[in-house]
Amino acid sequence: MTTLWGGRFSQRPDPLAARFTHSIGFDQRLWDADITGSIAWARAICRAGLLTEAERDRLIEGLEAVRAEWASGTFVIHPDDEDIHTANERRLGEIIGKDLAGKLHTGRSRNDQVVTDVRLWLRDVSRRLRDALIDLQKAAIERAEAGMDVLMPGYTHLQRAQPVRFALWMMAYFWMWQRDRERLDDLMRRADLCPLGAGALAGNPFSVDRHALAEDLGFPDITQNAMDTVSDRDFILEFLSWAAILGVHLSRLAADLTLWCTAEFGFVTLSDKHSTGSSLMPQKKNPDTLELLRGKAGRLIGDLTALLTVVKGLPLTYNSDLQEDKERLFDAADTLMAALPLAAAVLREMTIHPDRMAAALSDDLLATDLADYLVRKGMPFRESHHVVGRVVRRAEELGIPLSQLPLSELQAISPLFDQDVKDVWDFERSVERRRSAGGTARAAIEVQIAQARKLVEE
Ligand code: ARG
Repeated sequence: MTTLWGGRFSQRPDPLAARFTHSIGFDQRLWDADITGSIAWARAICRAGLLTEAERDRLIEGLEAVRAEWASGTFVIHPDDEDIHTANERRLGEIIGKDLAGKLHTGRSRNDQVVTDVRLWLRDVSRRLRDALIDLQKAAIERAEAGMDVLMPGYTHLQRAQPVRFALWMMAYFWMWQRDRERLDDLMRRADLCPLGAGALAGNPFSVDRHALAEDLGFPDITQNAMDTVSDRDFILEFLSWAAILGVHLSRLAADLTLWCTAEFGFVTLSDKHSTGSSLMPQKKNPDTLELLRGKAGRLIGDLTALLTVVKGLPLTYNSDLQEDKERLFDAADTLMAALPLAAAVLREMTIHPDRMAAALSDDLLATDLADYLVRKGMPFRESHHVVGRVVRRAEELGIPLSQLPLSELQAISPLFDQDVKDVWDFERSVERRRSAGGTARAAIEVQIAQARKLVEE
């Protein structure tokens, strides 16, 4: 057995070097895309007059036979198979004869072949990821609708800030995921271009029709510059940065929920299905699923950072360094393909505790509303902010909740306080006052849920 490029060599590769450089261990998952690309290539070089129609048909039959072996799990990888491209070509030769199989690679290079495979693979995977993301958005909408009546403290600086509806918190994640979806659609417009026919770096010498190739493979268009085509990994970098941002969003969801699962908060209980026990402490119910959803962001950021570092400073055009792209890409796609459905299941199956959320609503969350009350009486906000600060201090001195301060105490601080101040001490009313677009009032949230529904039912 020899390599496919052994002509100019007099020594066999060092087994250590071979093991170090071979990518078949991970790029074999491109098998289907590689065969699809080769079949389109056989048709293209036939159109260019390099194969008879009978040869083309025989090549395609042979390639389909190789595909069937992969599909049934009977393809046997040979120790000399460097990567998926050489493995498929070697096997094709065994099935249809080396002479004909040897014509397939005419005018093609593994440099344009590998990016064709990856772009085809990514197209398929990105569709599945998009579906999983949409399902997660649907889970958020379902939970928001079910949690419309539930009030809880909203936080800034992890300090109780203002009362909000649980639905407003839930829908915040919906919109992060909506941006993730838009980013994916946008990057896929650049990823979904046909590189085939760029050759090793300088183009194709047999007048292959690249537009026909693109059409055959279902790409809307072709890449424009042969040198750029074989050295460009922007489409993978964009995908990885998309994955890292989405991973960060999932980690923030997981951070909120792990906190809310604590005995101290008790806002939610995670389904037993998504929790594990401790090997030592019998009482423990650990939110492992959430912790790993949070932790996976580190890995996704790592995938992006790794490939950026590989590509940085690489001279044009193809360099073997670029072979490092695939494991990072596969890792990010696999990680999200596992994380997205799990995040949706966690949301759908967790129990929320409105009583615990209500118990966390303290009068001080209405301090802004008290300042706004004075604004409605004509006081400039900066002044009312200061006045309410004094009210808060007075309540602290007396050791009572804000709402229990007698009117006389309030009026001693500002004469604008009146009987109607008692209306301020109502969380529902506070929430309903925030009815401008994007706010936490029921009607405003219903508007965003209606918009959201349209976006997931497109
Ligand atoms: N296994 C290679 C990769 O993943 C395929 C391209 C190899 N091209 C080359 N000229 N050695 O990038």
